[in-house]
Amino acid sequence: MAKLAHAQWSSKMAFVLAAAGSAVGLGNIWRFSYLVGESGGAAFVLVYLACVALVGVPILLSEWLIGRRGQKNPIDSMRELAKQSGKSQGWALVGISGVLAGFLILSFYSVIGGWSLNYTLSSVMGTFSGQDADSVSEIFSGMLASPGTLLLWHSAFMLLVIGIVARGVTKGLESAVRSLMPALVILMLILVGYGMTTGHFGEALEFMFSPDWSALDGGVVLAAMGQAFFTLSLGMGIMMAYGSYLGEDVNLLSTARTVIIIDTAIALLAGLAIFPIVFANGLSAGEGPGLIFVTLPIAFGNMSGGVILGLMFFLLLTFAALTSAISLLEPTVEMLEERTPLSRITATLVSGIAIWLLGVAALLSFNLWSDVLFFGLNIFNLLDTFTAKILLPLTGLGAVVFVAWCLERKGVEQELALSATGMNVWNIVARFIAPIGVIAVFLAGIL
Ligand code: PHE
Ligand code: NA
Repeated sequence: MAKLAHAQWSSKMAFVLAAAGSAVGLGNIWRFSYLVGESGGAAFVLVYLACVALVGVPILLSEWLIGRRGQKNPIDSMRELAKQSGKSQGWALVGISGVLAGFLILSFYSVIGGWSLNYTLSSVMGTFSGQDADSVSEIFSGMLASPGTLLLWHSAFMLLVIGIVARGVTKGLESAVRSLMPALVILMLILVGYGMTTGHFGEALEFMFSPDWSALDGGVVLAAMGQAFFTLSLGMGIMMAYGSYLGEDVNLLSTARTVIIIDTAIALLAGLAIFPIVFANGLSAGEGPGLIFVTLPIAFGNMSGGVILGLMFFLLLTFAALTSAISLLEPTVEMLEERTPLSRITATLVSGIAIWLLGVAALLSFNLWSDVLFFGLNIFNLLDTFTAKILLPLTGLGAVVFVAWCLERKGVEQELALSATGMNVWNIVARFIAPIGVIAVFLAGIL
């Protein structure tokens, strides 16, 4: 059947925007920068980039391919394709663990989304104007020490997510993503520009790109791989779900390239904006999850137009976090809606409240429950570590192994539309490099 050229373009655009909206979020700015700082800089960055290329690309393609061929939600797509290829129904587990991961990730993601909301308001009120590193750090630790403040903003963020998902208005967000993403990039560039005026830009460049390989160990490599999964929204069935709405005319490889370039560029820009401020103010790069919240306000407080720029930055960050959070909640809601008698609104409320509660436990680990440790980690770190370093890689591994080893070759060829050489490269990467990489990193990090 002939399709209109314009209709094809706009559906492809909508897909790219939805995928980029899920990918670009707190992971790029908040999580990436603090992991780089904690893991000693360039060695982490380079391993992360290698993970994106060698593991991220094949798994992103596999998830889209499963969705487009299965044409259903992640669990049923896996089940259907396994049946068609005469494989075990146990493959549905790949979809199930993805839903669980989304549930767990959103609980702590919402806490950080709340910080971003709080900082949006603080920027408007000029709280950061003229402040130095010490007072900005104090503002941040004051927030962490107050369970009430954290609770308020976590609840506000979660309410926004629940409201949007319950109304099912996610489609309308696409047009917003289209204009806000470039705005975010421009603001990041302004911040990088500010970093250049601090006189410590070279130091930041060296920190991020000139590796000290002695800093590398299994834990750092596992963290880098976990970040590659987290930032690309992999290992959760989200990309599978998006793939199921995808027309046959869309080229998966070029779309993957677009999404990955946007996502990676924003993360690297975040690093180039943040580390000059860290070094110029004698802050510690290994500050942890608070890193962007104790650095960027210094820049906004001391540059002209800083109030407006700070407001815009935290608003955009909150918006990017919201579009990712929606994609985190959607699979749980969809599953409840399809498998229980609950309506969409009730399903959203039930899962939203459960996630909110878990988030409360996560935010208490910054104050009242800071001594409550499991495996030496507080609840916040436990949720983050367990999902990014264990659940996401294992689910993603399942997806790529399934596509590379179980699906009928002809179908895979048709979906990927690669040349003969391209197919050979795909086979090596998807059958061997990506799975062996995930397993090796995983074992090295755990042992
Ligand atoms: N990719 C998002 C980010 O970088 C987070 C996310 C992870 C969203 C997993 C959906 C699924 O912020
Ligand atoms: Na991301």
